[in-house]
Amino acid sequence: LGIRSKTEISARVIEAAQRLLAVGCFCIGTDQVDLEAATRHGVAVFNAPFSNTRSVAELTIAEVVMLARGAVQRSMDLHAGRWKKSSDGCIEVRQKTIGIVGYGHIGPQVGLLAEALGMRVVFHDIVKKLPLGNARQVGSLDELLRISHFVTLHVPESPLTRGMIGREQIALMPVGSFLLNLSRGTVVDLVALRHAIVSGHLAGAAIDVFPQEPKSSSEPFVSELCGLQNVILTPHIGGSTEEAQRNIGIEVSESLIRYVDTGSSSGCVNLPEVELPLLRDSHRVLNIHKDVPGVLSRINGLVAAMGVNIQSQYLKTRNGVGYLIMDVERSLSRAVKKQIEALDTNIRTRLLF
Ligand code: NAI
Repeated sequence: LGIRSKTEISARVIEAAQRLLAVGCFCIGTDQVDLEAATRHGVAVFNAPFSNTRSVAELTIAEVVMLARGAVQRSMDLHAGRWKKSSDGCIEVRQKTIGIVGYGHIGPQVGLLAEALGMRVVFHDIVKKLPLGNARQVGSLDELLRISHFVTLHVPESPLTRGMIGREQIALMPVGSFLLNLSRGTVVDLVALRHAIVSGHLAGAAIDVFPQEPKSSSEPFVSELCGLQNVILTPHIGGSTEEAQRNIGIEVSESLIRYVDTGSSSGCVNLPEVELPLLRDSHRVLNIHKDVPGVLSRINGLVAAMGVNIQSQYLKTRNGVGYLIMDVERSLSRAVKKQIEALDTNIRTRLLF
């Protein structure tokens, strides 16, 4: 089953879909699927979480330059018939420091592009990361905030990141610096940001994500940031490009095809992830079972009693389920499948030729 982000797959749907092997979410998240029910029924769920990494990095860098020049503000002025030609407060980004908070997939891409513009790159992450290019990991968020002309956030939504940039953190940023958030709306306290812009402490901001976002284009957008000078607001489009959509299409289709054809589950968000070699001269039994002690020894006992030669075997567990893959001789594979299916720990068993 292939779905997009607005199609909900509830427990009822999964229970009714007796032959459903896998759900491919052709989008970034998997919130629309009841993952717990999918796991219980041995349905693998795939998505494409990193297919839009580059798109976000490009918009971030574009906004760094636009903020430094107040260019969006000047464009809005011109649209309104106001010609405001001036170099006041306009700076080059070369030789300026960009501080990247969260150095996962997007962070390093931003760093590389920034470096190509001649910027100094520092980053902060809760995990020790290998810096790309000349980037330097700093010891704390506070240190990064103190030394950066531009702070750009690329962290996930989590209890640790909720409200991580508030009044105190903004106060540490140099006067005239800029804040960009293209990560998640809960990371920045927008009231504190509004205050910092109005008071002139920050020279501008670019915000792509909001704590409350309209569910469709027909709903109005309301934010404390509307109408502020040199604040670029975009409607959560950081990752929205044709290339990203295309990558999503390819990535999720490939995951589904590999899972169905070989049993490989790399990138699966709920079942154990296993990368399997191609099947050669044997049949493959794929068994998803309840992860309780003794399953493997019971299965191996059954197979040994049948006199079956196991050519290779893999087992991984996650979220209370085990995923066991056995390549066995062709003549007995159907009998093996039948025996395993009859076990009370069985969730789903299939055979690949
Ligand atoms: P990622 O998971 O690859 O990297 C996140 C990094 O943040 C990790 O290295 C992690 O260790 C670090 N981190 C976690 N908690 C931290 C903390 N408290 N302080 C410092 N570092 C912390 O994520 P990715 O793919 O780079 O995405 C980053 C963010 O961008 C996510 O929130 C994602 O939802 C968002 N995003 C937004 C898009 C948009 O359209 N605006 C599109 C794609 C992603």
